[in-house]
Amino acid sequence: MTTTTDRILNFSAGPATLPEPVLEQARTDIWNVRESGIGICEHSHRGPVFDEVLAEAVADCRAVGQIPEEFDILFLQGGATMQFAMVPMNFLPEGATANYVNTGVWTSKAQKEAMKLGNVHVAYEGEADKFDHCPKQDELECAPDAAYLHYCSNNTIYGTQFNHTLSDSGRIVCDMSSDIFSKPIDWNAFDMIYAGAQKNLGPSGTVLVIARKDMLETCPTHLPSMLNYNAIAKKGSRLNTPPAFGIYLMGQVFKWILSEGGVTAMHERNTRKASCIYEALEANSHCYTIFAKEGSRSLMNISFTTNEDVKNEMFLKEAASQGMSGLKGHRDLGGIRASIYNAFPEEGCKRFAEFLNTFAQSH
Ligand SMILES: Cc1ncc(COP(=O)(O)O)c(C=O)c1O
Repeated sequence: MTTTTDRILNFSAGPATLPEPVLEQARTDIWNVRESGIGICEHSHRGPVFDEVLAEAVADCRAVGQIPEEFDILFLQGGATMQFAMVPMNFLPEGATANYVNTGVWTSKAQKEAMKLGNVHVAYEGEADKFDHCPKQDELECAPDAAYLHYCSNNTIYGTQFNHTLSDSGRIVCDMSSDIFSKPIDWNAFDMIYAGAQKNLGPSGTVLVIARKDMLETCPTHLPSMLNYNAIAKKGSRLNTPPAFGIYLMGQVFKWILSEGGVTAMHERNTRKASCIYEALEANSHCYTIFAKEGSRSLMNISFTTNEDVKNEMFLKEAASQGMSGLKGHRDLGGIRASIYNAFPEEGCKRFAEFLNTFAQSH
């Protein structure tokens, strides 16, 4: 049975569309993985089958991200939000300061969690500009000698994405939840990155953390083990029963990315996918306003509005009647948002661009 015919176009910001070959493989493996006679969710996390699944997920992740050996790869739980607290717990020593770049709701949440745990300096505040762009390095006012600088590479709600990296004197920590492995990563520009799985990687709840080994060694030993990155790293992500299905599914997604040509091929395809939608929006600028400023426009989330609430509602209704779902903008911004992560089909973007044209012409 092919899934293509009974599946609609899912523009959800997350949990989001997964690659169809991955879902088909998962359908088999949930019943009986690797011909073991046992499904993936039923295997002991310390048995030989899961040993293989985990080892392959780590190796394939390293291959996909071209991750240098000086970084460790961890699979954690608690979503990206857990990282908002774990980062300062582990890397913001008493008396030290962390620089935070506020480009929207998620970074603001990260900042608030860090404030409960230590000194935070807001190096950039985007609220006055309604978070319509990602700041250049010279827009930051960093506190000197900060332990780390935290920012988010793609702001899922506003549809803004960094096309450059940021630097600081301390460590660089980046939330890549909504654009991980959508393009190559310059590892020289980061010390730690994290990503909730539910956009580009797999099922929600699971988190991918990639951090420099020498940074992990600085995690304070007084922390509870499950909140200590180093303790988890030392046990190869198996300090307790790990999110086995999440790790398995991420592993399948890594294999899929490799089979599609890797992150460079993803980036080329993502650029084509987003361009055809932005072009349709711009060609109908009498009808649509793109939220993000040029130069910061995301290839993953395209946020826009028709400038009228009633018309937005009409748009969503008509799109739904054509098998397009998940287009309602985030409650903090309103309007419309098309999320087109790695697994979202190019053909679906073309169909959406055509829909944008016909809707604009008929309204
Ligand atoms: C950029 C970004 N960071 C963090 C989060 C929070 O993720 P979670 O719900 O996994 O905690 C989200 C969720 O959409 C996000 O888009």
